[in-house]
Amino acid sequence: MTQVLSVASEAFPLVKTGGLADVTGALPAAVAPHGVTMTTLVPGYPAVRAALGDARVLHRYDNLLGVEAQLLEAQLGSFPLLVLDAPALFQRSGGLYCDSHGVDWADNWRRFAALGRAAADLASGLLADRKFDILHAHDWQAAMGAAYLQYSPLAAASRAASIVTIHNIAFQGRFDRAIFDFLGLPPHAYSIDGVEYYGGVGFLKAGLFTADAITTVSPTYAREIRMPEFGMGLQGLITTRQDSVSGIVNGIDPAIWNPQTDTDLVKRYTIATLDDRKANKRAIETGFNLSPGDGPLFTVVSRITWQKGMDVLAGELDALVAAGGRLALLGAGDAALEAQYRAAVSRHPGRIGVAIGYNEKVSHLLQGGADAILIPSRFEPCGLTQLYGLTYGCVPVASRTGGLADTIIDANDAAVAAGAATGILFEEVTGERIRDSIHRTIALYEQPSVWRGLQRQGMRGDFSWQRSGARYAALYRGLSERAPF
Ligand code: ADP
Ligand code: GLC
Repeated sequence: MTQVLSVASEAFPLVKTGGLADVTGALPAAVAPHGVTMTTLVPGYPAVRAALGDARVLHRYDNLLGVEAQLLEAQLGSFPLLVLDAPALFQRSGGLYCDSHGVDWADNWRRFAALGRAAADLASGLLADRKFDILHAHDWQAAMGAAYLQYSPLAAASRAASIVTIHNIAFQGRFDRAIFDFLGLPPHAYSIDGVEYYGGVGFLKAGLFTADAITTVSPTYAREIRMPEFGMGLQGLITTRQDSVSGIVNGIDPAIWNPQTDTDLVKRYTIATLDDRKANKRAIETGFNLSPGDGPLFTVVSRITWQKGMDVLAGELDALVAAGGRLALLGAGDAALEAQYRAAVSRHPGRIGVAIGYNEKVSHLLQGGADAILIPSRFEPCGLTQLYGLTYGCVPVASRTGGLADTIIDANDAAVAAGAATGILFEEVTGERIRDSIHRTIALYEQPSVWRGLQRQGMRGDFSWQRSGARYAALYRGLSERAPF
């Protein structure tokens, strides 16, 4: 058995702000069939503490980057979970990364350096009865784990190998030079070959420099991040480390996302009973104050941000309605953009319905009842909502980037004729392209047999973790042959 410590700032169902949580929540089960035991380490936010009940204390820190902390033992479903309980860092109301006004917590550097420090300690044999072959750190919040391992006084032979997975290179954990003195790293770590990044400290940069392997969440994004427009300052480092970078596409958890068993749906269905989706469509119409009808119903389930192209889409809502479409949108994010969507509801009552906020249950209903899901992302490392759409017969209409390009087959004439098409892809996130795609989607929708073909082909696809679980396991094995335990 390969022993892996997976470290992340969120994991479904404990805490989730986006796809990262879906992935870290699903990974233990994804790799288990391939001879991997995965233990997950997350911070002890209030929601996590509340879910734990009485947990055993495995280790106490008197001073973990200046605060008291302890490591608690729990379960994530049927898999082992460790919680870094540090009340001074994580017990507070507000978001995981920001306060209730959306401002980043000023001590984020300390919060996530502490997470990395604890991860590196665990991966260096802190607990006598738990040895790890691999430290798998997700995104900037965990990336310092790899750096702390690299600079640990322990010989390489007595510590785990490390992997950093990039779920989104836009979020880098960049801080002022002044924090370096509090990180507890040797002075030489502040260098271009260490944690230094553009005159400050870069957590993701540090992790990417020091990790034994780097992965990201789709093959296309793995290529894209070598270019300045996607690499966001890290393209040089990614290119230098190219031989250690691989793209492994995310899967979806069939226990949570399956239209046949999904209890969040009004009516469950299969590939053979797609007409039953209508009951879910009716429920969406009611819930989003839309006038009922059989015409095309688009949905959006997304962070309302620039990354997701939500600014451009907001400019095309009148066109969507003029073309005969309706829209039910669920999302939260940029306040100015949220206001634009609310304004569209006033302009088009009955045609556009908007729910600002986060609602797991409604996100399932939208996939189970809307006809098409719009995903006009400027970049998308993997994307999960198109995978849920494909699985639920909610046809994705998306930009050809990152994981969207890797998982959707565009309904061009040849692909439709061959029965291979699963969605609609467009090349550039501009108003014109989005408008064209909406028109294309509606034209396809108006050909019922073609539309059914798209839905069914999507539903036949294998978006399970089967293949990707095996790929992670192979990567772990390859690295652990170089590692100690
Ligand atoms: P990202 O992680 O970049 O936001 P993904 O497509 O990988 O994008 O994952 C987004 C996840 O968050 C999906 O599980 C999606 O259903 C969920 N999600 C996004 N916005 C909301 C919302 N407002 N309410 C409920 N779920 C949401
Ligand atoms: C990030 C990316 C998204 C990806 C998710 C899980 O949030 O933006 O594309 O699906 O991580 O890997």
